Amino acid sequence: MNKQTIRDVALSGKRALVRVDFNVPLDEARKVTDDTRIRAALPTINYLLEQGASVVLMSHLGRPKKKVAEEFRLKPVADHLQSLLDAPVNYIQTTTGAEAEAAAKDLQAGHVLLLENTRFDPREESNDSAMAEELAKLGDIYVNDAFGAAHRAHASTEGIAKFLPAVAGFLMEAELAALGKALDDPQRPFVTIIGGAKISDKIGVIENLLGKVDSLLIGGGMANTFLLAQNKAVGDSLVESESVAEAARLIDEAQGRGVKLLLPSDVVVADAFSAEANTQVLSVDDVPDGWRILDIGPETRQTYSQVVSEAKTVIWNGPMGVFELEPFAAGTRAVAQALADSGAITIIGGGDSVAAIEQMGLGAKMSHISTGGGASLELLEGKVLPGIAALNDK
Ligand code: 3PG
Repeated sequence: MNKQTIRDVALSGKRALVRVDFNVPLDEARKVTDDTRIRAALPTINYLLEQGASVVLMSHLGRPKKKVAEEFRLKPVADHLQSLLDAPVNYIQTTTGAEAEAAAKDLQAGHVLLLENTRFDPREESNDSAMAEELAKLGDIYVNDAFGAAHRAHASTEGIAKFLPAVAGFLMEAELAALGKALDDPQRPFVTIIGGAKISDKIGVIENLLGKVDSLLIGGGMANTFLLAQNKAVGDSLVESESVAEAARLIDEAQGRGVKLLLPSDVVVADAFSAEANTQVLSVDDVPDGWRILDIGPETRQTYSQVVSEAKTVIWNGPMGVFELEPFAAGTRAVAQALADSGAITIIGGGDSVAAIEQMGLGAKMSHISTGGGASLELLEGKVLPGIAALNDK
């Protein structure tokens, strides 16, 4: 990474204004149910504190529609953070302005302050420079550790970097190192597994990966549109008719580039979208009307697992079927297990694939699990993330 990090700057006695992605799930009692993103920011926070800085944290939570919404306040996150840190964690119900400025000014070295949800301010998402300037008054140096929000050009992720020395935190650095190395200098064979419901979300990703990978394995609802492009009947399966031509073009492009693009050879079909539906395993040549494809079949599971077992680098994004319904979870589980069993560098690109890995208790077996869903997809697409581009070059 050619961006400065917190290792490159003097921190003692400074106020570090740190953008984190504490957009975490809460239950009905407003307790944090998955603190992965909070824990992932701890190395940066602890390092800053150890170096003698005070730490002012900014984050969004949810999508509060540009106004204050009680259910999106960061108080439960502050409480949770306090349970993970030895340092005192203060929390205030404002993000900018006099109260925030006073709280940041009075903050002692070794102490932490969490500001209120940045998205309560309508100026955040429009990347308003006045808001960025107001935020910048709360610190001496800006640290971006919010990889999960780095694809957003918002006031607290991008605009603010114009007003303060701007460097990356350790999580940002680790995410870019893992994904960047795999994409730019992979150990081969390099295999990517792409799933999920919609092909339209992933066309840019597949396009970019075709120039890099040795094999591309496709599953999930998006595989149906590829099958349709090969003139297979897919019954009542989810398809995106407007993307069939695009799918055909990607199949041709893969062939032209010598990339193995693998599609399911057999599938689990059901007569309804329900865990109670009747199901059968069929070849992709035999899907009848009235049935829908909801998972890859056993032969495909075996083929995909075999390809993974021979790989040296694997990136996985998106489930192979409707894994939240038990009868259609086997494909996703098989892929997760194949990654866990392989000796390859394994990178999980955020979202539902992470949920599957965690459900199976296989997290510790992966080389890297990204904390960013949309952000890692945009990296896989080859896009420049604005929150990273804005940081100071080395
Ligand atoms: C995420 O959950 O992917 C990030 O926190 C970004 O959230 P957003 O999609 O609401 O911008």
